[in-house]
Amino acid sequence: MTELAFSSVFVPDGELKRQAAYRERVRLLLAKRYLEPPLCHLHTFGCQGNVNDGEKLRGMLAEMGYGFTDRKEEAGLILYNTCAVREHAEDRVFGLIGELKRLKRARPDLVIGLCGCMIQQKAVAEKIQKSYPYVDLLFGTHELHRLPELLYEVLSGQKKVLSIPDSDGMIAENLPVRRENSFAAGVSIMYGCNNFCSYCIVPYVRGRERSRRKEDILREVSELADTGYHEIMLLGQNVNSYGKTLSEPTDFPTLLREINEIPGDFWVRFMTSHPKDATEALIDAMADCGKVCKSLHLPVQSGSDKVLRDMNRGYTKEDYLKIIRYAKKRMPEMTLSTDIIVGFPTETEADFADTLSLVREAGFDNAYTFLYSRRAGTRAAEWEDVFSPEEKQDRFSRLLNLLREIGENRYTPLVGQTKRVLVEGKDNRKDKLLSGRTAENVIVEFAGDPALIGSFVQVRVDAALSWAARGTLVE
Ligand code: SAH
Ligand code: SF4
Ligand code: F3S
Repeated sequence: MTELAFSSVFVPDGELKRQAAYRERVRLLLAKRYLEPPLCHLHTFGCQGNVNDGEKLRGMLAEMGYGFTDRKEEAGLILYNTCAVREHAEDRVFGLIGELKRLKRARPDLVIGLCGCMIQQKAVAEKIQKSYPYVDLLFGTHELHRLPELLYEVLSGQKKVLSIPDSDGMIAENLPVRRENSFAAGVSIMYGCNNFCSYCIVPYVRGRERSRRKEDILREVSELADTGYHEIMLLGQNVNSYGKTLSEPTDFPTLLREINEIPGDFWVRFMTSHPKDATEALIDAMADCGKVCKSLHLPVQSGSDKVLRDMNRGYTKEDYLKIIRYAKKRMPEMTLSTDIIVGFPTETEADFADTLSLVREAGFDNAYTFLYSRRAGTRAAEWEDVFSPEEKQDRFSRLLNLLREIGENRYTPLVGQTKRVLVEGKDNRKDKLLSGRTAENVIVEFAGDPALIGSFVQVRVDAALSWAARGTLVE
């Protein structure tokens, strides 16, 4: 790979100004065409990095004069920001685009746009053009900042626009952002991925790893802290390799320590950490920094060394256990969560048993479990998918049962303790209760005034449920 491919590349200021001018052109065009501001139905799928992209799309659209709606029927623009990580994610989007045909027929001036990870795959973009010809606008992940220009082309020429450059991707700073939430914010610190885990589509649709400049991140976090944000989630596909692509290289533990120095009452979380790059320096920074939550999400994927090798993960089961042992020693109160893939093409019953034994040994507080999904273009896609859906499902159920069993009493030690909780919202099931999380990421439910949503409170834990703790607000 060339030197250039490793360095961070920023969208030049001139291009950002050009896009700002297009935002104004779209705004004028819409004001001339419509009496009321038109509405956009924007829906983002996938990971928090994609949600953060969605917030930039929303920011640009708001500046162009769009309002927002949850109802497709009243939208003048429908935009789906898609995810390609598993087949199921793609199928959902195809289903939704199919349903839009009826709306487009009834209202030909409706603009339908698709962007995000699915669209960055050439074969998918071609399929959409062929099978869903009523889609007006298709653009890939590297074109996010060009939304104003692309939308202007659609609106002014009533023509279809397709923009999916075959590039490694760039970083666009200072785009307008409209956040979904007024107390917890995602801050992308890097984009793309260089790891090429053999099952994963992300490096193909998100391009090469590139880090934002430290001063840009620190400025963004300071502004969020000044406006009263209480939780900052630092985002990247592998935050542990943050800084490697910068002209002045730095690293993630240093970034954490500098963020910790920013004045304000806020918690810092981060995801995702790749175990191969999780160092003792990372754990030390977590342990030393008061603002950094003692909860680590460290996706293991499998407990079999052979499968980990086939997945190209770059660590063994023992490497993984070693770093979590160190983390638990430095932070006894720490909680640990992970991701596990079941049914990888080379996973034998013995390999799966290794995963079950790792789960017992590691004592995860939470695990996100996925059935392996074959992604065209990845290395693992060349292996035959040898398991029947029933076999995969059987392993999946056995894993879930084990996780349930070991998770059963995980919150019992909290009973009697008073914990600081960031109130996030009303509990979906019983809307009289509020729900929030502790720094260790434990969900806590308690009775209280909804006006508390978005603030820190003290809650005494009275009872442990299997998925959460139940408590009482301490005045
Ligand atoms: N960069 C993160 C993961 C991003 S994708 C990391 O390396 O940890 C989130 C999770 O989706 C992964 O951890 C993995 O468990 C799962 N995943 C990714 N590709 C998948 C596939 N093809 N099939 C099933 N699960 C997959
Ligand atoms: Fe995918 Fe691996 Fe990169 Fe995570 S680190 S995004 S799993 S290739
Ligand atoms: Fe999905 Fe793209 Fe994120 S594939 S998981 S939205 S990087």
